[in-house]
Amino acid sequence: MLTFDSSGLYGDGLLSKEHFGGERREELQEAMADLQARFEADELGFVDTPDADGASIAAWAEERRSEGWTDQLVIGIGGSSLGAMAVLDSALPDQRDGLRAHFADNLDPESVDRLFRTLNPEKTVVVVITKSGTTIETMSQFWLARQWLVEALGEEAANKQIVAITDPESGELRKLVDNHGWWDFDVPPNVGGRFSVLTPVGLVPLALAGYPIQELLEGARSARDNRQSLSESAQIWGTIAAEHLALADAGYNELVMMTYGDRLQSLVDWFCQLWAESLGKARNRQGELVHRGMTPIKAVGVTDQHSQVQLYMEGPHNKHITFLEVRNFEADRIIPESPPLPRALQHLQGKPISEVFAAELRGTRDALRQAGRPTSSWIFERITPGSVGAFLFAWQMITAVAGELMDIDAFDQPGVEMGKKIAHGLLGRPGFEEYAQQGQGGPDGPAEESRRIL
Ligand code: PA5
Repeated sequence: MLTFDSSGLYGDGLLSKEHFGGERREELQEAMADLQARFEADELGFVDTPDADGASIAAWAEERRSEGWTDQLVIGIGGSSLGAMAVLDSALPDQRDGLRAHFADNLDPESVDRLFRTLNPEKTVVVVITKSGTTIETMSQFWLARQWLVEALGEEAANKQIVAITDPESGELRKLVDNHGWWDFDVPPNVGGRFSVLTPVGLVPLALAGYPIQELLEGARSARDNRQSLSESAQIWGTIAAEHLALADAGYNELVMMTYGDRLQSLVDWFCQLWAESLGKARNRQGELVHRGMTPIKAVGVTDQHSQVQLYMEGPHNKHITFLEVRNFEADRIIPESPPLPRALQHLQGKPISEVFAAELRGTRDALRQAGRPTSSWIFERITPGSVGAFLFAWQMITAVAGELMDIDAFDQPGVEMGKKIAHGLLGRPGFEEYAQQGQGGPDGPAEESRRIL
């Protein structure tokens, strides 16, 4: 079970129920109607992703796992890797007893080199994931990986050890697949990168790793379908999105997601991308400059109680802190009752670590509330594939509704595109020369302002 508790958003100086009446209620209804229209126009492909054919992917992965591979090198970045990483990090050891996963997203040359030095090409399947097929980070590492396989195994065997996940028709990777006959899976054209975790983008590496993808999909489906009617479930996403936006409008436009459960940490990285890249936009749907967005921030409980929480408690009133709370853990330890600790610590003795952990969470949340800070909680009864699937789907829906309420396009990323174009230009891609000019820093570049430190 997964529950969202928003009671800490209401009260003195924060939200009130009246806030969502009248004009705001109408705005929400309009946004939901617009979203429904987009869904009917087939623009919201992610809503259907929980219906993916997990059984076929799982069966395919099972066959591959029986072929003697031990590792998978998953090459992709952003929406093409964060989802699988997050889900896999939330797994228990027996939910990831298939191929060991190594994610190659960043381009640090030392990290890239380390991967190829430590993995065995005879035992490693290369999974390349890029919807566009032109992402520099992904394609440059993939070309290295392919060469690495070919040198070790020869071209024919190497081709059988490559899995490509890309657009079914367009893009440079699709052309390569068609020429080389690698294993391949489609990214649905109407599903954008950061909304694609429940497509082959996330499901294939997860299934190869031995993760129960069907339970993940089932959880996402339940989150989508478990209400009597679509409008009732839409109401839930709409209310949560509206609460986040109302807080942002009141100045609380930074959203701290703080985990109390280490297996949930990477889900926050996934969330940060979804929230930032979907909602941080310069222009609204009418093309007017609006510069909207809510900054996501990752925090880890209890560790960050000794670090960031001081700022959240006493710094500017601009943060909404949402906790990821786990009610039941799969393992626990009791603090020994003897020999006795000094008197000031004796109350800890005989208590399970989970109780201490829960008290730390409660203490932090209550103190934040007393300090007048908005807080909310996502409560995982247990961390299971089902509850993780529900969490993923819930945030995709909330993000989509928030985009609609903000009157921006949550599904594009023009800011990111320009950086990619400049990088292509600087690296000499034909037709991108004008972008290379923009990448030189211009006549008043930063050099004069640099300070030598060492
Ligand atoms: O959410 C997005 O659209 C992006 O983060 C992309 O997933 C990322 O840029 C990688 O793109 P691609 O899959 O085309 O390589």
